[in-house]
Amino acid sequence: MNAVEIEQALSDLAEQPSSTFDAAEFPFAFLAAFGNKETTIKRLRAGNNNTSDVPGGVLQRGNIHVATCGHGTVGETLTALRNSAATAKAKAKYILATDGHTAEAEYLPTFETIACDYPKLPEHLGFFLALAGISTIQEIKDNPIDVRATGRLNKLYVELLRDNPGWAGDARRADMNHFMARLIFCFFAEDTDIFNGEGLFTRTISQFTEASSANTHEVMGEIFRAMNTQPAQRAAGNFRPWADQFPYVNGGLFSGNTEVPRFSRIARTYLLHAGSLQWRQINPDIFGSMIQAVADEGERGALGMHYTSVPNILKVLNPLFLDDLRAHRDAAGDNKAKLLNLRKRMARIRVFDPACGSGNFLVIAYKHMRAIEAEINQRRGEPDRRSDIPLTNFRGIELRSFPAEIARLALIIAEYQCDVQYRGQKEALAEFLPLDAQNWIVCGNALRLDWLGICPPTGTGVKVMSDDLFETPLDQTEMDFENEGGETFICGNPPYKGSQGQTDEQKADLKSVFDAYTKNWKSLDYVAGWFFKAAQYGQSSTTATAFVSTNSICQGRQVATLWPLILASDHKITFAHTSFKWANLASHNAGVTVAVVGISRSPPTTRKIFSTADDGTLAVKEVAHINAYLVPGADVSVEAQAQPLADVNSMSFGNMANDGGHLILDLQEANEAIDRHGVPAHFIRPFLGSEEFIRGKERRCIWVADAERADAFRNTWLNQRFEGVRRQRAASNRETTQTLAHQPYRFGEVRQSGGETAIIVPSVSSESREYLPVGFEPAGTIVSNLAFGLYDAPLWNLALIASRLHLVWIATVCGKLKTDFRYSNPLGWNTFPVPLLTEQMKADLTECAQNILLAREAHFPATIADLYDPEAMPDNLRAAHARNDEVLERIYIGRRFKNDTERLEKLFDLYTKMTAEQKAKPKARAKGGKP
Ligand SMILES: C[S@@+](CC[C@H](N)C(=O)[O-])C[C@H]1O[C@@H](n2cnc3c(N)ncnc32)[C@H](O)[C@@H]1O
Repeated sequence: MNAVEIEQALSDLAEQPSSTFDAAEFPFAFLAAFGNKETTIKRLRAGNNNTSDVPGGVLQRGNIHVATCGHGTVGETLTALRNSAATAKAKAKYILATDGHTAEAEYLPTFETIACDYPKLPEHLGFFLALAGISTIQEIKDNPIDVRATGRLNKLYVELLRDNPGWAGDARRADMNHFMARLIFCFFAEDTDIFNGEGLFTRTISQFTEASSANTHEVMGEIFRAMNTQPAQRAAGNFRPWADQFPYVNGGLFSGNTEVPRFSRIARTYLLHAGSLQWRQINPDIFGSMIQAVADEGERGALGMHYTSVPNILKVLNPLFLDDLRAHRDAAGDNKAKLLNLRKRMARIRVFDPACGSGNFLVIAYKHMRAIEAEINQRRGEPDRRSDIPLTNFRGIELRSFPAEIARLALIIAEYQCDVQYRGQKEALAEFLPLDAQNWIVCGNALRLDWLGICPPTGTGVKVMSDDLFETPLDQTEMDFENEGGETFICGNPPYKGSQGQTDEQKADLKSVFDAYTKNWKSLDYVAGWFFKAAQYGQSSTTATAFVSTNSICQGRQVATLWPLILASDHKITFAHTSFKWANLASHNAGVTVAVVGISRSPPTTRKIFSTADDGTLAVKEVAHINAYLVPGADVSVEAQAQPLADVNSMSFGNMANDGGHLILDLQEANEAIDRHGVPAHFIRPFLGSEEFIRGKERRCIWVADAERADAFRNTWLNQRFEGVRRQRAASNRETTQTLAHQPYRFGEVRQSGGETAIIVPSVSSESREYLPVGFEPAGTIVSNLAFGLYDAPLWNLALIASRLHLVWIATVCGKLKTDFRYSNPLGWNTFPVPLLTEQMKADLTECAQNILLAREAHFPATIADLYDPEAMPDNLRAAHARNDEVLERIYIGRRFKNDTERLEKLFDLYTKMTAEQKAKPKARAKGGKP
């Protein structure tokens, strides 16, 4: 269940009148509201799992101890729950007591408590979210109203579409979205004194529409008509008094088609429920992001849970420009002239988000700039001064029309809230209505639009005035605004789509952006288009850009395609936030790893690399240069090479059967071959690929050396298998495969003799493992083409591959396949920089490798997947790896590295030196030097 669904269930529960409060049922209904399965509740109900020692109590192990009680005894009951031995024994996190009139609860790990009237329980949703395994972000915890509002509007939206099927189609979808935007505005306005009197809109609907809901659309239509009529025309408009009390709003919001969909009785109830919320507390950055999902069938299930959280937005905005503004404010102190200059500078700053969704980056940027400006005005003794920061300087492009509308509305709401906060309610109200008719969020495809046209580097004002806020022209090239000589900061979280996931249209978008510059664009992620367009934009204006992005554009093969183009446009990486896990409200956060990358043509002399450690602490490193792998170091593209750069053994692919399955056997087939069909046992070999090695699956293969083929053909069963291979290969339309039909006893591609030991490296491995699961196999094992092998190689090679250093190198230069490391020998192993190893070092590393293997052995028959489960990695194995890292890292720098950034810095430094030496060698030879 997601947070919105939980909120809905909790609201339904709390809406029951206290007269019908079912004390026995409440604990189970409460647990069900938080997503507990029916079977879990059934077991608790039957008493099997309920170890509560408090009367009326239900105890769910590791979660909650909840009890209902007689009227007026909630406090005592909570104390009993707190003191209960069963609470402690079952490690309950929450205790909750209620009598159906009031409720009290405590979160035991932090002693945080709540106490409220029973119907207000849903307002404390954030407090309880951990019950559903949702890691709550602070802003939702502080302000669950956004979740509640989304839930209620969602119910209303779905109900209205059911009542008005004609509005569900593409033709009327825009009308429906406009209608919802108008409603949101009305709910906000009635709670913030923008309309006369608290709750005017909801109250009018409640009083003047029939309970049967028959005339709801007419009453609402009349109110909207009033809000679209200027005071001078009011008399001629012949308004009923209840409509006439609404102010003139327009600004495009209530013009155009003001038709209202029909309301059923249920829809009317949902409308009144939504209106009863405290919309004053709405947080436009969060709410906007969530609400956009309401109108999106594909996303409605997730209800906006995938938006960018405020802390992540600030990872972009702070280093991009807000930190700098704050530093200038602090440096100005009370110097009025300096403060004035800063204010003037800020008034000419444009913030441009070319994939703005519902405008959360723009809203946050606006709010933070207003805070800085308010401080300046305070220090200059002008606390009531009207803001100099034009809302129209916060520009966006968004593909979908509803979020684009919500973005504009969110900015309008943010402006009003800031005016109230910094200048006072009276001033804010005096200037709020009517809304401005300027348009500054463009609905369209950012990769097809001309950004310079939408956000021109110079200009003096918005030229296009739109009559209807919703009828935005797609390409507003005539739009212009007040920032002559100002700076532009491009920001956002554009969509990520790997090349496999892109639609034909998105591929065509990328082609249109890149085709003139590179033919390799097909491997790029969709987000790369935004970086390149930003770099092109930056050619003709004072611009700095930072986007949240999938980290794949800074890893593996994409680096060599994208970044040389950006660097060639004279841009540098100005700051970076290295890979971090995506975190937002979703209970199951998509396994996305992202990075923040800033670029500009005028980078600061010291640049910052931020990195978030696994425990959430933030480290900042100041460096002179950041390369495309987000590592301090020279601009390099690590390129695949045929032989190892370092003095290590060579690694090759495993063996590819190309046999139509006739040479591969499961365990039973293999046993039968030997026992029933008389196949000599040495022709049947253990066969290992990634899956077999990691998950401990057993497979066998038929392996016949050329010298033994006559022997093999004498066995009838083998002969039949070979015939199968022969036929399959002969039928191929590839000439090379047809040739292989002459040697049907043999794998198609053979990379080992079959008599050597093998160090096996899986081609893919889950990124959650802390080490690459490399293995050592005795002579006789055959490595499949789904793994790599080092044959008869000394064991110290295994120590290198098993190290943290190698893992971070592979993650960086090979990249990932979804959430798995993708190993490549030419790109990952052959490029891995290793200092020259002395015999003593090799001996030390060999010992480390042996210790790792012995530590695994101690847990036989645990599989590699079991042993390297990050939650359950055995201590002795962890210690063996730590020792290996210690020994290897001392070889590199004489001590342990502090973190991965430092590891990569050293590796890239060494790589640069070693490749330079490698290039110099043939030249020396050409000059007659010794090889
Ligand atoms: C990851 S969301 C970020 C939006 C917003 N900042 C947030 O956090 O919710 C990416 C946004 O880009 C929009 N988008 C996708 N393709 C686009 C395109 N070609 N042009 C403009 N916007 C696009 C999507 O509709 C979505 O709103």
